[in-house]
Amino acid sequence: MKKTSLPIPFGWYAVAFSDELSIKEVKPLYFFAKDLVLYRTETGIPILLDAFCPHLGAHLGHGGEVHGESIACPFHGWEFDGDGMCTSVPYAKNMPTKIKDKPCIDGYPIREINGTIFAWYHPRKLAPIFDVDEVPYLNSPDWKETGRYEWEINTCVQETGENGVDIAHFVYVHSSIEMPKAEIQLKGHHRVTTMISKVPAQDENGVLDTTGEKWEKSALSTTSCGPGMTYQTFDRGFVLFMQGTITPIDESRVSMRWIFASPADQDETAAFFAKVVQDNVVEQVGHDVPIWEHKIYQPNPILCDSDGPIAKYRKWFNQFYDDGDSTPVRLVKSN
Ligand code: FES
Ligand SMILES: [Fe+2]
Repeated sequence: MKKTSLPIPFGWYAVAFSDELSIKEVKPLYFFAKDLVLYRTETGIPILLDAFCPHLGAHLGHGGEVHGESIACPFHGWEFDGDGMCTSVPYAKNMPTKIKDKPCIDGYPIREINGTIFAWYHPRKLAPIFDVDEVPYLNSPDWKETGRYEWEINTCVQETGENGVDIAHFVYVHSSIEMPKAEIQLKGHHRVTTMISKVPAQDENGVLDTTGEKWEKSALSTTSCGPGMTYQTFDRGFVLFMQGTITPIDESRVSMRWIFASPADQDETAAFFAKVVQDNVVEQVGHDVPIWEHKIYQPNPILCDSDGPIAKYRKWFNQFYDDGDSTPVRLVKSN
């Protein structure tokens, strides 16, 4: 049984889509190798806390109830807010001094953006050092969602991202007719990968060639914001936007979620081809999954001169592993 030797990188990670968490809803989750509870307060704020009650250890996500801005434990009714403070011990004469004016559960900074609830994970609870990119398409009445997909995969975050710069695998795994060209631009926590590949040609009416005879070159740029979020827009007469998120369940397992959207007023032909491309991208990742599931991470791979910018990608990704340098801060505030 393979195990990755890579730790969980820090960054913003999707923990739910916004519409999966209604007001006062409580969900048990397991990400970052931790039991967690996600809830939405009465005023609509999503909160993510470590799951176990500091009183006698009940899981707040199994039977916990939202009271105002706090969650009440199902076992003895103690209440905790988004800052991890105990806000009520309903049957005590006095609040235990140990937790008076002090947080007693760790929480995670949250950004609710792009119709997605993102949580900041850092192994030492350091505060966020970058923000999540806002993409207008997932929250706009001018765009409509065209699909969402989810996979749980035995791999780690770094390995799935490496797929985008590993140009040789496109021929062998995805049956591309020739190797694409990939360029990456790196800027801090951002990475833009531009892939130029040979794709079915499109005529002046927006119709893609299905005979396998006419081809053209097309460039697709994918932006990564930290280790956990990427987005791209296919724009070839039809328009299709995609946000991909990847969230570590633990060191060796990830949850990958994709959501697609197109302009609401896209005509029928364009909408048809956008759907063809969407289905194709989803089908293609199905070919990656078995490779990811069974491969090991090679820390010192033997690369050849046409393998693409794998080393450059790894160097960029390395910034998201905690080097133990900065001063740790206990961070409990969720918003
Ligand atoms: S275990 Fe949570 S209130 Fe007792
Ligand atoms: Fe792939």
